[in-house]
Amino acid sequence: MKRVKVGLLGCGTVGGGVVRLLRQNGDVIRRRTGIDLSITSILVRDPMKERPDVDDDLVTTDPRHVVSNGCDIVVEAIGGIAEARAFIGEAIERGKHVATANKSLLALCGAGLFDAAAKRQVRIGYEASVCGALPIIRILRSGLAAQRVTSLRGVLNGTSNFILTLAGEERMSFDDALAIAQSKGFAEADPSLDVDGVDAAQKLKILAELAFGTEIDFDDIEVQGIRGIDSAAFERAAAHGQVIRHVATATRGCGGIRLSVVPEFLPASDPLARARYEENCVVIDTDAAGEMSFYGKGAGSLPTASALLADVIELART
Ligand code: NAP
Ligand code: HSE
Repeated sequence: MKRVKVGLLGCGTVGGGVVRLLRQNGDVIRRRTGIDLSITSILVRDPMKERPDVDDDLVTTDPRHVVSNGCDIVVEAIGGIAEARAFIGEAIERGKHVATANKSLLALCGAGLFDAAAKRQVRIGYEASVCGALPIIRILRSGLAAQRVTSLRGVLNGTSNFILTLAGEERMSFDDALAIAQSKGFAEADPSLDVDGVDAAQKLKILAELAFGTEIDFDDIEVQGIRGIDSAAFERAAAHGQVIRHVATATRGCGGIRLSVVPEFLPASDPLARARYEENCVVIDTDAAGEMSFYGKGAGSLPTASALLADVIELART
């Protein structure tokens, strides 16, 4: 049995999920992979907060303690930019592999972090940063490695899809639906990132770079949020057998790659229309196989933790 120690940065929706899922499925992971994962320490901001699933002795407010406490791999689930970048940078400097769920950080400063990791010969796993439990990064990086992607469309934000589903199916107000999404832990600390399309655009940048093998400038993505959709729009959609979805699109054409995140009216037969609540869906068109659709829970505690632990296992294997 290979014993691998994990330092955990953050113990909220996602970090707390990592603790719970490891407790729930640690035996499955051991049996399947021969890897015994254990958490050495957990960074939080407020050490007095009730955390029923967590061993108090592991909790610390000192990030250095987490990245230097004899761990082999650091999992980042604190979110935000400056501190997450500093803590990941320190982990890399100390020669640790990193798994992160932080798409804002990757969209803004991924290149610098990947360079630093390559110099120290460590790796950064980021499956959890896009589409929660759905292994879309692996699908693009390895499953479709022999195919040329021509276009990619997706519902990439669980919170906005949750709001659009409740507004469309139950005529719930935007504010009420957002409040439920927040209470379920789907929304970002600043939910305007979700509803204004920034989070989906960050994820689209990550996916499009993998799909098309080229660097994408975030400012080239046309972004429109879902705040302006009124109840009449949902009535209109229903009258025509349609649904409204917040659709991220990347298409390769003669003029280059066109990227957008905009609300769209879709027929019920569209694969993206089938993504309900916090589900995500990605439809990829390739030269060799045509259209393929992938579905899964795109936000939430255990779904996201499952992607982080999948990265940890892959990093631990080598
Ligand atoms: P969250 O519930 O707010 O949890 C954040 C955790 O990090 C908390 O435990 C918090 O401590 C801790 N923390 C934050 N800043 C810190 C700092 N400067 N020093 C020490 N501890 C700090 O957030 P989340 O929803 O888990 O999201 C975390 C990351 O995962 C974000 O990058 C998000 O975009 C990404 N993500 C989230 C989801 C989802 O469904 N929520 C899905 C995929 C990816 P306290 O507990 O003491 O406040
Ligand atoms: N806030 C994000 C969402 C979390 O709602 O999709 C998952 O990345």
